[in-house]
Amino acid sequence: MPIDTTEDLFVSGLSHAYYTEQRLLDALEELEQTSSSEELTSGFAEHREETQTHVDRIEQVFEHLDAEAEATEDPVIEGMIEAHEEFMDQDPSDEAIERFNIAAGQKAEHYEIATYGNLIPMADQLGMDDAADTLEETLREEQDELETLSERGEAFDYGELEASS
Ligand SMILES: [Fe+2]
Ligand SMILES: [Fe+2]
Repeated sequence: MPIDTTEDLFVSGLSHAYYTEQRLLDALEELEQTSSSEELTSGFAEHREETQTHVDRIEQVFEHLDAEAEATEDPVIEGMIEAHEEFMDQDPSDEAIERFNIAAGQKAEHYEIATYGNLIPMADQLGMDDAADTLEETLREEQDELETLSERGEAFDYGELEASS
């Protein structure tokens, strides 16, 4: 099926977002389990709960469209997950993992923010005000999570890492 209407583009983007949010449920669990500080593990656990809501909201938007919720594999989130696995294979210290996980979380949030930042105006264009409002709620939670992670990254104590030899 060719993609040549705003609705086609919207549905395509939505099905990639649906896939991404579901993969993030696994990815956030991995970030939680590999982080060591209480603030980071609880932060990832909290955002995982929000992410379940993001999945549910996308299903609501598919309902507005009278369409079956469908996930399309998204190579970007798969690449991010693979990057984390490759990092973990390099025998990183707990402190190095901590700093890497903050950055990994930030990258995922940036990607989600770009995704929702594009889906919302398309929903507006299609006259789907309720869908736009629903996606806007998710966007705000992604922005809050990015801000929290960015603050953690800025406050990171590099003295915790081993000195270079
Ligand atoms: Fe999300
Ligand atoms: Fe997120």
